[in-house]
Parts: sequence; C-alpha cells; structure tokens
Amino acid sequence: MSRIEDQQSRIKATLELAPVVPVVVIDHVEHALPLARALVAGGTPAIEVTLRTPAALDAIRAIAENVEGACVGAGTVVTPKDLEAAQAAGARFAVSPGSTTALLDAADDSDLPLLPGAATASEAMTLLARGYRLLKCFPAEASGGVALLRSLSGPLPQLRFCPTGGITPDNAATYLALGNVICVGGSWLTPRKLQDAGDWAAIEALARKAAALHT
Ligand code: 3PG
Repeated sequence: MSRIEDQQSRIKATLELAPVVPVVVIDHVEHALPLARALVAGGTPAIEVTLRTPAALDAIRAIAENVEGACVGAGTVVTPKDLEAAQAAGARFAVSPGSTTALLDAADDSDLPLLPGAATASEAMTLLARGYRLLKCFPAEASGGVALLRSLSGPLPQLRFCPTGGITPDNAATYLALGNVICVGGSWLTPRKLQDAGDWAAIEALARKAAALHT
C-alpha cells in the first residue's frame, strides 16, 4: 500500500467514528481534558482541535496522552510547520481549510493523514490527482452547501466529503443524507460559553445529539 493509500484508509476510519467531528477552539489548556472526555462520552470521539490559539498544541498533547477513546486531530493546519507541530504534539490526523503544494508535499513525506479542504471542482480534482479521495468541503455553506456537494457527486463520484463551515444541528442531517458525505464538522458542540462555564455535561449532551444523527 502506498503512503497516501495508507493515510486515506486511516482518515476514513477516523471520519467513520461518528457522524460529526467536533471542531474545537480551546483557549485554556485546562479545558482540554474535561472537554475531550465529554465529547468521547457523548459519542463523538474524533476531535479536531484548531491551531488557532496558543493553547492548541498543548491541548492536543494532553488529550492524546490522557483521554482514552479519543482520536484527536489538529485543525487549521495551513503550513508544513503546522503539520510537523501537530504530529509532534500527538495528533492522529490533520485538517486544513484548503491546500497548497507545500502542504501536500509535506503531507506526502509525513505519516500524519491529512484531510485537505476543497470548495471547487478544480480544487477537488487537483487533490484527487494526488491520491486524495476524502476531502473537507470548506467553507461548505458559503460555497454552495448541499447543492454544491450534489453537483460534485456527478462528475467526481470517487470523492467523499466532510462538509464544514456553517453546519448546524438544523442542517446537519440534510448533509449527512448525501451519498458523498462521510460526516460533517462543526463548532456547535463546544461553544466558548459552555467551556468557560465548565458545563461539560451540556457539551456531552450536545455530542450525544450529534452522535445520534444518521449517516
Ligand atoms: C471553522 O472554520 O471554525 C470550522 O469550519 C467550523 O465552522 P463552524 O463554526 O461554522 O462550525
């Protein structure tokens, strides 16, 4: 099996863990463990921690080392340096809002599976040519949402997507009903307000509802 095939099969297994991948912004590293435990308990164990805060890499490290059942990944991976830092922190997968040649070259040389973003047929085709069959559709709602994904399924049936950006509890099921959607990503499970209040039970309840959505 080639490296990209191996990476694709690992990212597929990750994206099949639950219908929703929580996209998390962690401001305080001490939130990482209770937050991840709540998400795992609620049934959404593939967790994308975005590299948007100074706490993100330490949060990934803490979750990777301490939370049984979690599959923690890094989001907002934009540069080869981000990819390297994510892997060093113990991330099991990486997610990017898009892709650059530099990032894809780095991913080719890395063991860390990458879920790169695409919002057009040309972007998706460029990634397909490099061996990617699983893509993040970003920004999903702003780029055309369900209609865009339906349109892409005709000419590009080999691809499956994790739409992210504008997904809500109200529209998630419509996305998940599409044949070329493997799961969706969203930040609604872990609002800052609940993190700051330490209301992990409420986060677990949001995760439980998301986990019950049908793929
Ligand atoms: C992001 O960029 O933060 C993610 O795509 C999540 O988007 P959302 O906040 O619309 O769920």
